[in-house]
Amino acid sequence: MLLALETSCDETSAAVVDHGRVLANLVSSQVRLHAEYGGVVPELAAREHLRNLPTVVQAALREAGVAPGALEAVAATQGPGLPSALLAGLKAAQTVAFVLRRPFLGIHHHEAHLYSAWICGQPPRADFAAFVPNVSLIVSGGHTLLVHVQREGTHRVLGSTVDDAAGECFDKIGKLMGLPYPAGPHIDRLAERGNPRAFDFPRPMLAEAHDDFSFSGLKTSVRYFLRDHPALSADAGCVKDLCASVQAAIVEVLVAKTVRAARRLGVGCITASGGVICNRALRQQLTAAGQRERILVRLAEPSFCTDNAGMIGILAERRFRSGQAGTSIDADILPQWELA
Ligand code: KG4
Ligand code: ZN
Repeated sequence: MLLALETSCDETSAAVVDHGRVLANLVSSQVRLHAEYGGVVPELAAREHLRNLPTVVQAALREAGVAPGALEAVAATQGPGLPSALLAGLKAAQTVAFVLRRPFLGIHHHEAHLYSAWICGQPPRADFAAFVPNVSLIVSGGHTLLVHVQREGTHRVLGSTVDDAAGECFDKIGKLMGLPYPAGPHIDRLAERGNPRAFDFPRPMLAEAHDDFSFSGLKTSVRYFLRDHPALSADAGCVKDLCASVQAAIVEVLVAKTVRAARRLGVGCITASGGVICNRALRQQLTAAGQRERILVRLAEPSFCTDNAGMIGILAERRFRSGQAGTSIDADILPQWELA
């Protein structure tokens, strides 16, 4: 039985896992707190984590029906992420581990995302054996990463964004359109009734052979488009078409580059996670591309797409049970930790 904490950005999350099963996975989102600033304010996030952690930890233990003494180890996200936010969860976990005299495990946030697509069922359970090798797409408000997972624990980053992350692109374009933060889910909803071919926006780096992404040019192109069509925002139908067209550009780039990498590397599986993987058009088009190409596509369930401690606990327990050494109880945060 392990307790895991995740506080790398603006979700305070605690989970209890046992033998590959997620017994509880509580997430307290700060999205409303940061909405008025149009983005995550690191200092506010850290303070909110400190306020929320005791409640979220207690609720996770209660939901799992576990007494603190039954915990065998404690884990937390060590990086990458916002320094002050990471510090809150890491120090809380290390303190619990110290008091209970249990091992502590510091987990790489993106490595946990790589395996989150394999947590499913009721209670959710991770199926590690079935999925390697694969190409894994991680897309959130902070990251756009394409990773080749050769075997469990061995991966290579193929590409990442050279500027804005895909979620950031959704959010910034939404802001230009006057949509609330975070705009991704609003664009998803509005796009449902829009025409994705109404407006032709650039598909940045789509034609280039490498695996990197770029989304700031798309944002700039929408900015100029809105400047040149000031009346458009007042027309509800046009707003839906605009959302659908923007979404189509982002989704096409993500799907095409992921599938191309999978084909080039000859892997039979694609996995995906991160907040943007909640996007319905992206889920649908990744799945369709997989069927076309005869590549198995495993998408994280929405509750494991966004940042959550369940994925941290699943990976930590895997390490713990395989006898790998824990992390030092006074290990520091690693805000810039690269996925090796
Ligand atoms: O993984 P996440 O919860 O937090 C981090 O950024 O680490 O991802 C949040 C991002 C935001 O940019 C949000 O707009 C985007 O995921 N997002 C979506 C959808 N749901 C969340 N983007 C497009 N469509 C969605 N349905
Ligand atoms: Zn994340």
